[in-house]
Amino acid sequence: MHASFLPRLALRSAGFCKIFSRVLIRGALQLGFTSRDPLFLSVVENLRNPAMVGAPCRSSAALACCMAQFVDPDSEGYVVELGGGTGPVTAALLARGIAPERLIVIERSPVLSCHLQRRFPFVRVVCGNAERLLELLGNCGPVSAIVSSLPLRSLKAEPVQAIVDHCHSVVSPGGVLVQFSYAFWSSSPLEAPHCEKIFSRVVWRNFPPARVDVFIVGAKLAAEPHDLTTPEFRHGQVVRRAEAMP
Ligand SMILES: C[S@@+](CC[C@H](N)C(=O)[O-])C[C@H]1O[C@@H](n2cnc3c(N)ncnc32)[C@H](O)[C@@H]1O
Repeated sequence: MHASFLPRLALRSAGFCKIFSRVLIRGALQLGFTSRDPLFLSVVENLRNPAMVGAPCRSSAALACCMAQFVDPDSEGYVVELGGGTGPVTAALLARGIAPERLIVIERSPVLSCHLQRRFPFVRVVCGNAERLLELLGNCGPVSAIVSSLPLRSLKAEPVQAIVDHCHSVVSPGGVLVQFSYAFWSSSPLEAPHCEKIFSRVVWRNFPPARVDVFIVGAKLAAEPHDLTTPEFRHGQVVRRAEAMP
């Protein structure tokens, strides 16, 4: 195969995606979709930048609910969502009882950030790159949970390492890190010696099915079982129950 074949193919595919997204936008607008439709926005953003979005569809309610269940509405500190997209996980976190003023959503796409801010006017939406998480959060105060939908498997190693380092240093001891991944077979980039994995389970009611991993930062083990009462969790494999370090 000629050496320049693959780059040329990639360029052609990118060009094709751009043309296709323009045609799709026109067609969809004529069919009555508005530029505020979550479905419309996610399809267009996917065509514009597939590696950044990293998912063929937005998360299902089952997946979003599975992630949100691990955030304690009564905990102190902020809840930071990474990669809000069109907002299914944000909606699940609010439905879980997280006060909107405690929620900070980081989203890199300006179009999706505007959509999120319109959809959730009382939530703080920050348009920016999670690689600069510390800077984006400023001196917001303690963070008790990070819920991430970032496509860590389709990003390059360096940005992923930066994001992981920021996540580990931002969350207070005893706080949770929640991440989903379509790559069931590989370990989560968020795994670290000081993080205790308390849950790892595939949610099948999502396209494609995704594995949710939950870690407690700076945790030690306790005997008490995790209280998981929703149908998603009854079949869930709770790895361990953990408590914060004293
Ligand atoms: C897999 S989508 C998930 C969207 C939504 N949370 C859901 O579950 O449907 C990943 C989202 O992360 C955003 N994203 C990707 N890389 C990012 C980064 N480095 N910083 C912030 N957001 C990013 C994308 O724009 C996209 O909206």
